[in-house]
Amino acid sequence: MLKDNGYQFVEETKYPNISPSDQHQEKPQPPYEIQVEPGIKSISLPEPEAIDLGHYDLRKAIEIRRSLRRYTEDSLSLEELSYLLWLTQGVKKVDEKRHVVWRTVPSAGCRHPFETYLSINRVEGLEPGLYRYIGTENKLAILSIDSEFNNKLTQACIGQHQVATSAVTFIWAAVPYRTVWRYSERSYRYLYLDAGHVCQNLHLAAESINCGVCAIGAYDDDAADALMGFNPPEMFVIYMASLGRRE
Ligand SMILES: Cc1cc2nc3c(=O)[nH]c(=O)nc-3n(C[C@H](O)[C@H](O)[C@H](O)COP(=O)(O)O)c2cc1C
Repeated sequence: MLKDNGYQFVEETKYPNISPSDQHQEKPQPPYEIQVEPGIKSISLPEPEAIDLGHYDLRKAIEIRRSLRRYTEDSLSLEELSYLLWLTQGVKKVDEKRHVVWRTVPSAGCRHPFETYLSINRVEGLEPGLYRYIGTENKLAILSIDSEFNNKLTQACIGQHQVATSAVTFIWAAVPYRTVWRYSERSYRYLYLDAGHVCQNLHLAAESINCGVCAIGAYDDDAADALMGFNPPEMFVIYMASLGRRE
């Protein structure tokens, strides 16, 4: 029989049941972005304000959007990749004093609990491998040049072919403490809601440049986290999305 304990989580995270937050107890606020480790190379992305990929009707993007699981063998340009990153996790403003960033998506309490990793297969000017978006600097950190990385990721995604054949697969990692610091146990609701906004922006941005996306929620959590070198619950893969050019 199905263990229907999902609602227990909703019950336990109702306001009367949550603990005072670390913010309430004046504990230090966690960083809003992971620092690039010394020795890790990075490349600058085309500046969002200089990117001109034309204009696309929002209503049309919403109406024609569908999950796309078959892609052409075309590569994305670096400009297109920068556009997609900007529209999903771009940093619009940093307030150093309050230690807050505003991004192009909403996030509960402006906590922005994600890091964006990319499994690159076909992007002009980038060797296949694993990269991380540094939104505050509009850069990509080059984590691992590895033409096999995407195959390993596909295995963690239970062999889903749209990951294997994607031009790029987005891997969103949750860093829960950024939100937990303010909202305690209630945060775990917000993490998943926040992630949905990010992926929807990717869907719509992709439509506007003749690409398509398939959200990936079916993956082996332990295999994905192990592949990424994450240490849950500190950090874990929360959502992924494969992307490529439409046929
Ligand atoms: C949270 C979430 C997880 C999903 N995970 C997968 C997945 O792992 N594999 C897949 O092929 N599609 C996945 N999808 C895509 C859905 O199957 C798809 O959105 C649904 O069938 C409706 O089709 P449409 O997006 O074309 O409207 C996921 C969608 C969402 C929102």
